[in-house]
Amino acid sequence: MKITIDSNSGAFEFECAPSEAILRAGLAQGLALPYECATGTCGTCRGRVTAGGVHVDWNEAPGYAKLKREKGDILMCQARPTSDCTLRVPAKIGRHANSETLPAQRTAGIKNVRRLLQDVIDFDLALSSPMTFEAGQFVVLENPAIAGGRAYSMVNFERATSRLRIVVKQQSGGRFSEWLFGGDPTGTELGVFGPLGAATFQPEEGKDMLCVAGGSGIAGMMAILNRAVREGYFNERSGRVFFGVRTLGDAFYMEELAGFVAASADRLQVTLALSHEPVARATHPHLPSIRLAGGMVSDVMVRAMAGSYPNTVAFTAGPPVMVDAVLRHLLHEAKLPRALVRYDKFA
Ligand SMILES: Cc1cc2nc3c(=O)[nH]c(=O)nc-3n(C[C@H](O)[C@H](O)[C@H](O)COP(=O)(O)OP(=O)(O)OC[C@H]3O[C@@H](n4cnc5c(N)ncnc54)[C@H](O)[C@@H]3O)c2cc1C
Ligand code: FES
Repeated sequence: MKITIDSNSGAFEFECAPSEAILRAGLAQGLALPYECATGTCGTCRGRVTAGGVHVDWNEAPGYAKLKREKGDILMCQARPTSDCTLRVPAKIGRHANSETLPAQRTAGIKNVRRLLQDVIDFDLALSSPMTFEAGQFVVLENPAIAGGRAYSMVNFERATSRLRIVVKQQSGGRFSEWLFGGDPTGTELGVFGPLGAATFQPEEGKDMLCVAGGSGIAGMMAILNRAVREGYFNERSGRVFFGVRTLGDAFYMEELAGFVAASADRLQVTLALSHEPVARATHPHLPSIRLAGGMVSDVMVRAMAGSYPNTVAFTAGPPVMVDAVLRHLLHEAKLPRALVRYDKFA
């Protein structure tokens, strides 16, 4: 079916199968449509149907909260066409710059599952065909037995890779994570759409790096640090990582983070912020290169940075409340340019 997007930068057309979400079809064909989560929560992929019809997959999606559904507003990540249609999208739209990283639909089998903590696992996805992605990007995973897709950031960073490493924190009552944690998911075939996301690390920007993560928000930062360390980025630039968890027992990837610090001649500092446990010592009990601090990770970051953000690119990911607190500080108080503050809200 033919989709026409009437945008602030002109009209664009692409084909979309009746089984395909309009957002995915447009992105896969190189159109840089607006989106953030790609899974129905943020509302960024808003479009208004002005001709033709669509089927809405998830009527209760939180992303509808600010939309005028009675006027034909839809979430392009949750709508499939039932006829040729035209959508008014109130945004400037361009073309995807790099054809290598265009998102596509693949399948993948789950392998090498490790339980990092009682409520955190990581695993590999063995992809049906190789994928090239930027450090900091994510994919949407689908289990045919569970309605809707779930977004997960890549932990590893490799070009043209057939393996994605994913980390998942269990959400109480969450359907996808309860399924993952309820038994051994090894061997299960999932749908994978991606790569997606704009919170990407571009080494050629040559900025000092600030990473602020809450819980599983560390996932994309691991890919960013992986790339930065491998390419010697911290020979020239400095990096500050603030990783927030509730207690020391909730921390994971500590040895990997200590390895990044060791490989960076101390130009990279990692601070673990504990929000629900008093902190009586300055460093991790077993890994002295990891600093400890008490409080919410956003507050710990603000205190430690003390208003000093010269030439900085910032990445933040994790629970929306935490990401919003970090964004408020970096954009409104520290006055970092919007283009240098990149985020993913794990809603
Ligand atoms: C960009 C991004 C990256 C993320 N990266 C990670 C990561 O690396 N690690 C991690 O642990 N978590 C990550 N998350 C959170 C993750 O996507 C899930 O929200 C989380 O694992 C909880 O999923 P659940 O199924 O257990 O919970 P649920 O509450 O069942 O579902 C959570 C999400 O699934 C989608 N959903 C639920 N029901 C439906 C439905 N009927 N139809 C369509 N969609 C539905 C919605 O997006 C909803 O917010 C990320 C989120 C985003 C947006
Ligand atoms: S991109 Fe569609 S709701 Fe977030």
